[in-house]
Amino acid sequence: MDKLVIEGGVRLKGEVTVSGAKNAVLPILAATLLTDEPCLIKGVPNLRDTNSMLKILRSLGKIADFDKGKVNVVAGKSSSYVAEYKLVSTMRASFCVLGPLLGRFKKAKVSLPGGCVIGARPVDLHLKGMRALGATIVIDSGYVIARTNKLRGAYIYLGGVYGSSVLATDNVMMAAVLASGKTIIESAACEPEVVDLADFLIKMGAKIKGHGTPVIEIEGVKHLHGAVHSIIPDRIEAGTLILASLITGGDVLVKNVQYQHLGALIDKLSEAGAHLEHHDGTLRVKAGRRLKPVNITTLPYPGFPTDMQAQMMSLMSVTGGISVITEKIYPDRFMHVSELNRMGAHIQREGPYAIVEGVKILSGAPVMASDLRASAGLVLAGLAAQGKTSISRIYHLERGYEFIEEKLINLGAKVWREKE
Ligand code: EPZ
Repeated sequence: MDKLVIEGGVRLKGEVTVSGAKNAVLPILAATLLTDEPCLIKGVPNLRDTNSMLKILRSLGKIADFDKGKVNVVAGKSSSYVAEYKLVSTMRASFCVLGPLLGRFKKAKVSLPGGCVIGARPVDLHLKGMRALGATIVIDSGYVIARTNKLRGAYIYLGGVYGSSVLATDNVMMAAVLASGKTIIESAACEPEVVDLADFLIKMGAKIKGHGTPVIEIEGVKHLHGAVHSIIPDRIEAGTLILASLITGGDVLVKNVQYQHLGALIDKLSEAGAHLEHHDGTLRVKAGRRLKPVNITTLPYPGFPTDMQAQMMSLMSVTGGISVITEKIYPDRFMHVSELNRMGAHIQREGPYAIVEGVKILSGAPVMASDLRASAGLVLAGLAAQGKTSISRIYHLERGYEFIEEKLINLGAKVWREKE
């Protein structure tokens, strides 16, 4: 296993381009199961998770090639409706093959993904949606076995205890596009990644309205065809790079940014006093003024993203004053707190709250990454810290940040890999 070593204290400077969105490409690749015709997906980031999804597609009978940001998916000789534990357990997003398999083959056997370090992560809403569409569902030996004679459109309220669900909305939408009649998903997730999936499905011939709002309307069609699609830029990678510039006192031009996807983050950064210039798909982040602490509450889109919580906590750790960070999506997503405290941060966790008292400087230390965004938070802390930080279990970072070392090195950061 590799660890990432960072010699902190360098101001980042230069230009960096954001890659395609991980959380858009994963369900979009799953959606290719809805047709036998070829699909071409462009702007695909080369990530561990993308490769996991390609392995699943291949295990289900697709031929899927990945070359220089493009994925071609075509039908193989035979197909399967079983997504195995060893593949699904590597990544939760693989559970969203359930909807397309059920829509297409009227049966699916998909391993339950289980919990993960950021929380329990149940799939009850996914199953509720499939049942409402007319599937019978049995859980047997860790697998969801879903069957139907015919999926029928339905009214589905998909809100859960923590609000809407991104992958449940994706999954149900993908099952409903081939159901007969109209489906209404109420309390649907509004994330840009859900919209990107809907846009891809529409290119395949699906009839969908209201995506991007809490009420999605789907008129089922008999058949979907192949399509060509380009993935939207990754708003979480963009946000992470913006914070990398701010936390190092840098001057970075972040390219391939969809400004309107970053509303909550930009609003909070403006409140903190950051200076951001937006022009034509680029965002210049020039640190200057001292930042003020801001309070953050994570919420479903368009609220502040939980996937930016750890990174924002690192920034607040070195921002004078007190900020309160409230996690409303995954109340236990705080594994990074103790690691940041090992670097000299003053953070106290109280249930779903973290109280951050900004310090002047962090000091480099050996720390351990627990999940993807916690890793990103530790990378930011390491870039700002005095001395050397080594982050072990860095494979988490490879799940969601394409070429991150190269990107940071190009901005002047002193970052390298070492064997653990
Ligand atoms: C997606 O996960 C993202 N993953 C996550 O990104 C992201 O953190 C999350 O949405 C929230 O924005 C992908 O898109 C691949 P949810 P998802 O269902 O869809 C509860 C990252 O770092 N819930 O929207 O699985 C759930 O426990 C990852 O890139 C139920 O109760 O998340 C949570 O509290 C991590 N029952 C809330 O809903 C369900 O059936 C929202 O989760 C499903 C979810």
